[in-house]
Amino acid sequence: CGIVGYTGKKSALPFLLDGLEQLEYRGYDSAGVAVVGEGGAAVVRSVGATKELRERIGDRELRGTSGLGHTRWATHGVPSEKNAHPHAAGPLLIVHNGIVENSRSLREELEARGEVFASDTDTETIVRLVNRTMEEGGLSLADAVRSVIHRLEGSYSFLILHRDPEVPLVAVHRGAPLVVGLCDHGVFVASDVTAFPSEVRSTVFLEPDDLLTVEPSGLFGIRCLASGRERAAERIGRNRTEEHGKGDYPHYMLKEICEQPRVLAELLAGKISSGPAGLSLHLPPKVEAVLARARRLRIVGCGTSYHAGLLGKYRIEDLAGRPVEVEIASEFRYREPLLDPASDLLVALTQSGETADTLAALRMAREAGVPTLALVNVPGSTIAREADAVLFLEAGPEFGVAATKTFLAQIALLTLLALHLAPEERLAKKTGLSRQALLSEFLGIPGLLDKSLSLDSSIASLARELAAAPLVLFLGRGADYPLALEGALKFKEITYIHAEGYPGGELKHGPLALVEKETPVIALVSPDPRLLPKMVSNMQETLARGARQSAITARSAFEEMAPLVATELSLPDCSPLFFPILSSVPLQLLAYHTACARGLNVDRPRNLAKSVTVE
Ligand code: G6P
Repeated sequence: CGIVGYTGKKSALPFLLDGLEQLEYRGYDSAGVAVVGEGGAAVVRSVGATKELRERIGDRELRGTSGLGHTRWATHGVPSEKNAHPHAAGPLLIVHNGIVENSRSLREELEARGEVFASDTDTETIVRLVNRTMEEGGLSLADAVRSVIHRLEGSYSFLILHRDPEVPLVAVHRGAPLVVGLCDHGVFVASDVTAFPSEVRSTVFLEPDDLLTVEPSGLFGIRCLASGRERAAERIGRNRTEEHGKGDYPHYMLKEICEQPRVLAELLAGKISSGPAGLSLHLPPKVEAVLARARRLRIVGCGTSYHAGLLGKYRIEDLAGRPVEVEIASEFRYREPLLDPASDLLVALTQSGETADTLAALRMAREAGVPTLALVNVPGSTIAREADAVLFLEAGPEFGVAATKTFLAQIALLTLLALHLAPEERLAKKTGLSRQALLSEFLGIPGLLDKSLSLDSSIASLARELAAAPLVLFLGRGADYPLALEGALKFKEITYIHAEGYPGGELKHGPLALVEKETPVIALVSPDPRLLPKMVSNMQETLARGARQSAITARSAFEEMAPLVATELSLPDCSPLFFPILSSVPLQLLAYHTACARGLNVDRPRNLAKSVTVE
């Protein structure tokens, strides 16, 4: 879910609606706003996204200089108008992100005391509890929140506004991110900075157990929820002009796919520098320090980030000779992984820096005394703040729910880590090239990504064929296997067509039974002389069963591929080390064009959210 609030001198509604549009990638099954002014309070809610909410508001003027907005991704209660936020109790209005885990027992207790609930949400429990406490104890809103907060279990954040415009707005951070945005005419508070208008020049990241109060004058204070003590607010300048909007692209996803050559070029330019001794690789000192003492890397992540981690294992074990374990964060955290503070480094991969399971895995490691490194895209996110060392993906904000440019940045950074950790001799033995030569080739990869993008029209015609398929198989060996998994995930996420990613060698242990006449198979074929002949024999197996085969391969493999495939998507030749960076782009475009051919909402696939702050 995404939340936004404003208190200031200007009319709140336009800011709230624009902010919600920017936050929609966090949830879009229902939306709502509340505006408070001299004339009282108005609340409008609607099923769907901000567009539907705008239609619901129509020509109505909702006057007021304070307000709240919410875009929802349902957890408790189905998406419906009655479950859409803001929720109300007495004079209070609330928007909330995250989960109150003991809401059922609290609700029963409140119902027994005569409260009548209007929704099925856990959110309403919060506002009813706060309101009761405020009334019964004669407390201010902020004090009522402080006195009940210990009763609300879970990881969440919320904003509460009083219908009296003179009462300060209250915001609470109890595990779900909140950031304050400051400008000349007022104060914003939201789930992330994308909700802020361009005039917001500085921000303050709230920390867990912070209570923020904002007076209508714009004065604000941050206190510790438990002790009530004020804390100083560290203001961070916002000099980077975040690129908002889709520009000339029909979808964020396509825009973000097309940004990849620039994203990669900028990422590499910040890490690889040339000096008198040639090219060298520089990582932040803290990152170098945690890597230097790590004898075993424990990578955790969810979804696309997990797939990037798998690729990292292939690269780091192969080139650096250090053992790497990769695990889905939600599994890692609920088993009892054997963690060794003396040898392990936990590496958390996460675009958002907020994924609940990845955060829990990171905290588990920290509690066990294991150093932590995070590869994160969102600066100021919880995982970026809690990890001992951070490498930023520097991909800029990503709005499409399906991760694209951040996956590319993740696999590029993991490849850089492998190059950093690899002893020179081993590198030469494994790749036949020196670190210098590989870094130099790496710097040329952004240019080759343009070639990957130029396959767009061939991919669009393949996509039209796939649009009616019941199933698509993605195959790959070696580091192409994680790519096959990612290709299948991207495909099913946004096309709603079942897709499976498999290692080529596993084909005959099961999935070959699915192959019949015209079954689409997408083979990823790296120019790796050890693996290429093996993939060719896998492709012969599927071809013999009538598969409609396509290959994403290097130009030099053309002859081997020609008899096997109906569509060949050939990429420029490069070291096998960099091939997945090039081949991730056609996989993204294939999912994108197939979803478009099926008329689906590419940026906002059903049931999915960009940032999963609940477990
Ligand atoms: C959600 C998103 C996925 C993403 C996953 C992990 O499920 O829809 O695209 O890969 O979360 O997110 P993270 O921010 O931790 O990389």
